[in-house]
Amino acid sequence: MRILVVGAGAVGSLFAARLAAAGETVELTGRAEHVAAIRNRGIEVLGTGAGTFRPTALTRLEDAQTPDAVLLTVKTFHLSAAAAELGRRYRAAFPTLLPQNGLGVEPLVEGPLREASGVDPRPGLVRAVNTIPATLVRPGVVRQAGTGELVLRDPADGGPNASATALFERALESAGLSVRLVHDLERELWRKVLVNAAINPVTALHRVPNGRLLEPPYREEAQALLREAQRAASADGFEFSDAEADRDLERVVRATAENRSSMLQDRERGRPTEVDAISGEILRRAEAHGIDLPRTRSVVRRLASVPPATEAT
Ligand code: PAF
Repeated sequence: MRILVVGAGAVGSLFAARLAAAGETVELTGRAEHVAAIRNRGIEVLGTGAGTFRPTALTRLEDAQTPDAVLLTVKTFHLSAAAAELGRRYRAAFPTLLPQNGLGVEPLVEGPLREASGVDPRPGLVRAVNTIPATLVRPGVVRQAGTGELVLRDPADGGPNASATALFERALESAGLSVRLVHDLERELWRKVLVNAAINPVTALHRVPNGRLLEPPYREEAQALLREAQRAASADGFEFSDAEADRDLERVVRATAENRSSMLQDRERGRPTEVDAISGEILRRAEAHGIDLPRTRSVVRRLASVPPATEAT
């Protein structure tokens, strides 16, 4: 199968490497220095499933061939522009995987893709919850620091995107990426958002790897954000008990202990973070129900501005 990965960040690069290793024809678009490194030496994966893999790397979407499927792995704040570019390039819609963190992702893609392509993209759009930890170490080098999975809506439940979902299930599993099918993807999206709402801001603000959240004072700070996020989830119709939310958080923190969260990686590079799609969205949903979340409001304010880059990972 011909797979186009749009967005050669940590997750896009890792998935491109795994799919290329499984024999798929993979083209990956990204920044010039990362693309140059991949062209020279391939993608070097460190950690879990280490090795060097050789997808085709491109800086321009117009150089990519027509794909059978797309992995749209750009950050949430670049999704609409990337969707519009895809629509303009191909005037068609493909099975498209959306593994972003956060809530409210599909609308960012659907409108721009429909407008630019003239096609209804909904049967192809496949939302995924991703807990596979990936870090971009330097151009051409990505680390999988721990284990995780991709959660998809069970295609057996039917629906307009069932065949696109089944296609990704097969491709990802044969690339050795663990896939779990669920009936209630919305709940799983909230489950992941609760975890991100606790891990990402605390690790980004204190510049610590995920594993430090097992210790004070980070543990308490993460748990306070978790409790607030649970209130927003509950108001939105998704109830998570304290025990369940704590168990989820601890499981992910332990499984990704050495990982630097995506928000921390962005902050270290002086780039915008996904705080708006995670904590910002939690805040908006809570506010719509008249609920104030002071700790969440504070981290959104502190992380909304892009800090100067201090170190490169
Ligand atoms: O955003 C991230 O970094 C990841 O979603 C996770 C699971 C928190 C691991 O670092």
